Amino acid sequence: MARTCLAVVLAAGDATRMKSSKSKVLHTVGNLPLIAHVTRAAASAGVGKVALVVGRDAGSVTAAAGIGIEVPVTPVEQTERKGTGHAVLMARDVIAEGYDDIVVLYGDAPLISPESLAAATAKRAGGADVVVLGFRAKDPTGYGRLIERDGELVAIREHKEASDEELAIDFCNGGVITFSGSEAVSLLEAIGNANAKGEYYLTDIVEIARARGLRCVAIEAPEEDMMGCNTRAELAEIEAVWQARARHAAMLSGVSMIDPGSVFLSFDTELGNDVVIEPNVWFGPGVRVGACAVIHAFSHIEGAEIGAGAMIGPFARLRPGTELGEKAKVGNFCETKKARIGAGAKVNHLSYIGDAIIGAGANIGAGTITCNYDGVNKHVTEIGAGAFIGSNSSLVAPVRIGDGAFVGSGSVITTDVPDDALALARARQETKPGRAERLREKLAAIKALKKNPSSGQQG
Ligand code: UD1
Ligand code: CA
Repeated sequence: MARTCLAVVLAAGDATRMKSSKSKVLHTVGNLPLIAHVTRAAASAGVGKVALVVGRDAGSVTAAAGIGIEVPVTPVEQTERKGTGHAVLMARDVIAEGYDDIVVLYGDAPLISPESLAAATAKRAGGADVVVLGFRAKDPTGYGRLIERDGELVAIREHKEASDEELAIDFCNGGVITFSGSEAVSLLEAIGNANAKGEYYLTDIVEIARARGLRCVAIEAPEEDMMGCNTRAELAEIEAVWQARARHAAMLSGVSMIDPGSVFLSFDTELGNDVVIEPNVWFGPGVRVGACAVIHAFSHIEGAEIGAGAMIGPFARLRPGTELGEKAKVGNFCETKKARIGAGAKVNHLSYIGDAIIGAGANIGAGTITCNYDGVNKHVTEIGAGAFIGSNSSLVAPVRIGDGAFVGSGSVITTDVPDDALALARARQETKPGRAERLREKLAAIKALKKNPSSGQQG
């Protein structure tokens, strides 16, 4: 039978060093709250439930923890911050539901991988009662040190309690501790607070377990997996690691990036095979790109579905609700929003296309604007398949341009144009032969008068 596992995720910290008006775990990496990264990793590793220890912003933290996972999240409140051991004990009732394994995770350490979690659970399944994920710290200052003897973990010594000899150890507690569900409540209740900080240290669980004849082990995970976020500077470092991982995965899956370091991805960015991404492209949440599409440099894309073989940018802005058909093009300095642009249609230069439906193969000339907003309401512009919109046209919505219709450039279109009709909505041109020369003479005379006002007396 499969093992049952409960994740207890600690997210009650007050995070003063973030200097933020919201809970630290609501800050994002790859456009996903930190807490959601943690619960997603737990869900991928097969936990059956999450007990979420919350303090401030309990409602929004709980909601964020559930983003994109099926696993139920039960919030438990920690009103006073008395240490990690105390925090885990807040989930006592959930733990008592009975699980094979309890895994404690920190809500502010979003890089934990499902693989590292699975390694810990596998150790538990192999007979260890307490499994601690450790890492070799480049700088161990501040971390709990893992003290081992004969391949077993004998204690975790917090930095403030450690002897000089113990401080020399670079194998540190990463914060992820997995232990037996049946022993959990009794082990946690045995933790005291007689230490330098006067806190209930979860880490004391190791010595308590050993005193009861239980077996404790530490396994090593990559330091990156354990990175925690205390300041905005650390948040940026975590973002950098996360982005590097996401880009690497995208490239291995068949996406070309010319300058990967300048491409920003979101947690849910989906990129098809043979997509090419040029430098300095930003993907906000909710973007899916079909195979062989090319995203030229300096494009900013969010909430958009881009068809196979489409071409975007350079310098395009695709806002939420943009849907591009196969081989459609949105070129430089164009902005789209809630716009369905058909297969092969082109919006190539300097356009705003908002609240619009554009048929396949339509050609939208440079500078075309859909005037979708009347100051109060938004309205839809429809452009039929194969229509041609001349440059610098304003399409005042609600309005429909028929299939195969033609709009003369510079038009301000305020009423529907039937299929295959030609619409011109601009002043008729007047041409006056010779008038340019007379105009030039007149302008020259004005200039002379300005330089020498007296010369103007005779004229
Ligand atoms: C903890 C570990 C240390 C480990 C380090 C790794 C303990 C006693 N020490 O130290 O061995 O090397 O993490 O980063 O566990 N939290 C609550 N409620 C509380 C206390 C903490 O929710 O009452 C949360 C914090 O918000 C944070 C996490 O638990 O997300 C860890 O707490 P923190 O105070 O940062 O522990 P450290 O002193 O860094
Ligand atoms: Ca910490």
